[in-house]
Amino acid sequence: MKYFNKILKIENLSIDKIAKKFKTPSYCYSYNQLKKNIQNFKKSFRSISPLICFSVKSNANINLIKEIKKFGLGADVVSMGELMIALKAGINPKKIVFSGVGKTPREIEFAIKKKILLINAESKSEVIEIERIAKLKKKSVNIGIRLNPNTDAKTLTQISTGKKDDKFGVNDKIFFEILKYCKNSKNLNLQCLSVHIGSQILNNKPYEKMLQVIEKIINKSNYNFKFIDLGGGMGISYGQETKKLNYQKYCIAIKKFLKNHKSKIIFEPGRSIIGNTGILISKIIYIKKNDKKTFVILDAAMNDLMRPALYGAKHKILASKKRSRKINLTHEFVGPICESTDKFISLNNFHELKEKDFITICDVGAYGMSLSSNYNVRLKPLELLIRGSKVKIIRKRQKYKDLI
Ligand code: LLP
Repeated sequence: MKYFNKILKIENLSIDKIAKKFKTPSYCYSYNQLKKNIQNFKKSFRSISPLICFSVKSNANINLIKEIKKFGLGADVVSMGELMIALKAGINPKKIVFSGVGKTPREIEFAIKKKILLINAESKSEVIEIERIAKLKKKSVNIGIRLNPNTDAKTLTQISTGKKDDKFGVNDKIFFEILKYCKNSKNLNLQCLSVHIGSQILNNKPYEKMLQVIEKIINKSNYNFKFIDLGGGMGISYGQETKKLNYQKYCIAIKKFLKNHKSKIIFEPGRSIIGNTGILISKIIYIKKNDKKTFVILDAAMNDLMRPALYGAKHKILASKKRSRKINLTHEFVGPICESTDKFISLNNFHELKEKDFITICDVGAYGMSLSSNYNVRLKPLELLIRGSKVKIIRKRQKYKDLI
């Protein structure tokens, strides 16, 4: 996203042109940014040659996953639907891991049938259920156990997953119980210890602590795990925070850990791969002023992008053309939904805006479209992939007939 002569562009195309042709609200993804993110991720962790499983929950567009697959990535899925999309996108089942606290028998059966790399179990009951189904199918199933390392990820509480009171994974006591159980099972092949402590992590310390906890558990267990799945969570810069997670430091900590343990590392990144590739283009329907502020009423709303309403997340907003005059009033960018939380951001001192102008909400590639809904019977937006000057529709805009 850059201004050229005050005109905002994604790759070689102006936002205004895209908006006029494809209407709004529309999600657009930059192919070259995606490529850059994947190459940078791979390069940063090359020395430990991990298996990188893209976390499908962050963006489940099958066309994007097909592109991601071309770079050799696998997938991290949390439902049968996500698993089906990953397989349909052509991802090798031997590069797919399945996490989640509530996998149903149907989902487990499907995962076993598709011979995926690992089912990462999150409770003893789930392990017993996997064993029951495996026995029935006369199969030996590769599984992981998700450990709850009781590590504070120092991120938003809503997206923190690794503290002892969180619903995810099992504590060390149950971990050892499951380990013992698996040793005596003919149908369970325990291959992996997995963890995921949270999302949008910007500091390396929580990861370092998490590695120390894993190290202790492994030493105590005296068990050789073929895989250590470290989950995702790598934080990105949303504009306000200038920093993002330092991959090099994280890699050094993992290398240190691997000195004593010969396991293959698995990562499950979502946001760090897709987050900054996506924008949401929206049109200003009306501008309404009161004494203190200017409401900029957009045609995009919390149903299109939930993060601000759900987590108080702040996404940068840019005008599609920069007018020279700046208005020194609070601009509150809101959607048309009947909820006071349907508000994206408040900004002071913004470039002059007019009704029918287009604006761009930035860094929405992760947990943007994937969290969207039909609230207020609003249609889900269109998705476009931009590569240089080329545009490809990668998901059509919903139609009323799809809903009514
Ligand atoms: N692996 C597991 C087991 C996860 O639960 C998650 C995210 C990931 C990997 C990928 O994490 P990432 O690399 O994208 O941080 N909706 C929230 C984020 C929820 C994350 C849920 N789990 C948001 O919009 O910030």
